[in-house]
Amino acid sequence: MSGSLSYQPELFPEYDNSIFSHVRFNGRSGAFIDNMSLPVHRWYRYSAGFSADWVRQIIHAKGEKYCVLDPFAGVGTTLLACASENMACWGFESHPFVHRIAAAKLCGIHANIRETKDVFLKFLSRANGERKNSSTIPSKLLEKCYGPEELSILHHMREIFLKDYDNGSPSSELIWLAITAILRVCSGAGTAQWQYVLPNKKKSTVIHPITALQRKATELLQDIEYAQRNGWNSQSHIIQTDARHPEIPSHIQVDAVVTSPPYPNNYDYADATRLEMTFWGDVSSWGQLHKTVRQHLIHSCSQHAAAEKLVLPEILADPVLEPIKEELSEACHLLAEIRESRGGKKTYHTMAAAYFRDLGIVFQSLRNLCKPGASLCFVIGDSAPYGVYLKVDEWLGSLAVAAGFNSFQFEKIRDRNIKWKNRKHRVPLKEGRLWIEG
Ligand SMILES: C[S@@+](CC[C@H](N)C(=O)[O-])C[C@H]1O[C@@H](n2cnc3c(N)ncnc32)[C@H](O)[C@@H]1O
Repeated sequence: MSGSLSYQPELFPEYDNSIFSHVRFNGRSGAFIDNMSLPVHRWYRYSAGFSADWVRQIIHAKGEKYCVLDPFAGVGTTLLACASENMACWGFESHPFVHRIAAAKLCGIHANIRETKDVFLKFLSRANGERKNSSTIPSKLLEKCYGPEELSILHHMREIFLKDYDNGSPSSELIWLAITAILRVCSGAGTAQWQYVLPNKKKSTVIHPITALQRKATELLQDIEYAQRNGWNSQSHIIQTDARHPEIPSHIQVDAVVTSPPYPNNYDYADATRLEMTFWGDVSSWGQLHKTVRQHLIHSCSQHAAAEKLVLPEILADPVLEPIKEELSEACHLLAEIRESRGGKKTYHTMAAAYFRDLGIVFQSLRNLCKPGASLCFVIGDSAPYGVYLKVDEWLGSLAVAAGFNSFQFEKIRDRNIKWKNRKHRVPLKEGRLWIEG
């Protein structure tokens, strides 16, 4: 078999510098969609991310010695924004797959352009060449998401990569990232808001894998050139570690924290990467997803709390929750009660308790990593599972002060859940920035 598309590997469109000149900061911090027109940030679409231009605005002109930390680094938005502002930055990310994406971006921007272009050309040429019996990943999910021809090409790419390219070098990680980043656009399956894949829904535009990879390679090369021409530094480091108990070099001391933790809104970060991780053979079942990913994350979805069979009184007895214990207990007991009357019996009661305990521990750990007088900005959102309102801004602020920071202030960015369309509850919600000082 060979690819049906006629493909000319020597054709990479020339780099067009003007494409980024229209990008302007629009004041939002919550939306990753703005990043899809920004060099490097656009390499992988991550719905959970925030705006890189907003990060740049708040760190701008702080000086070369200023050091920033993002303990929930995601795909590296803060780290890359700091690199572009010639500032040092540390990032923690405990989701192994998301960590690899951020790491690939960070090392990729310093890759040798000529060599990388050459590697991509050879890879593309092989990917478009004869397909022998590529090893397949037996997966119902993959079969539902792709037609046999697309799946065969993608498996072929996967096999070439794993056999001859997977050596940890910057260009190898860029190829891994490029293949990862095209998996959605090559799939006919729909994607729900926030990236869960919906194999039973179909989308109208599907791109052939070779075309998609060629375009992605072009984008990567353009952006590497852009980053190098604009002097993005190499002082940003991402560590695959848990923000609650980070295993990190002992000398880290930072002036500021710019971050967005998971919200307690039942979003499942493990499920959001299920398609990609299945494709690479990192997971093959729902249970494995928990073991490989979810158990390393903050408790922010009910599947996580349920899988661990958490016990409410045990969590509420944790001294870290002392400052908010009364109000949190009341909300969690109400959730436990409502649950009994609901079909799904969702474990929001233990999820909520574990969420605030986790964030309390994160603030304690951040106190040790922040210099006296540091500034912290947490982009956060509140939530109301089963219609029970969780005072996320007040409670997180109190936990930060209990951990040794001086003060907090909440700045609302936008209201959510006010149109009441198809909503399960009518509690008004908000998103904003929690500024913590000390
Ligand atoms: C709201 S997202 C942050 C996205 C980031 N601002 C960006 O632009 O890509 C929260 C991130 O925290 C990560 N995370 C969850 N629990 C964590 C933990 N215990 N330690 C470190 N990272 C964690 C998730 O995997 C997710 O990528």
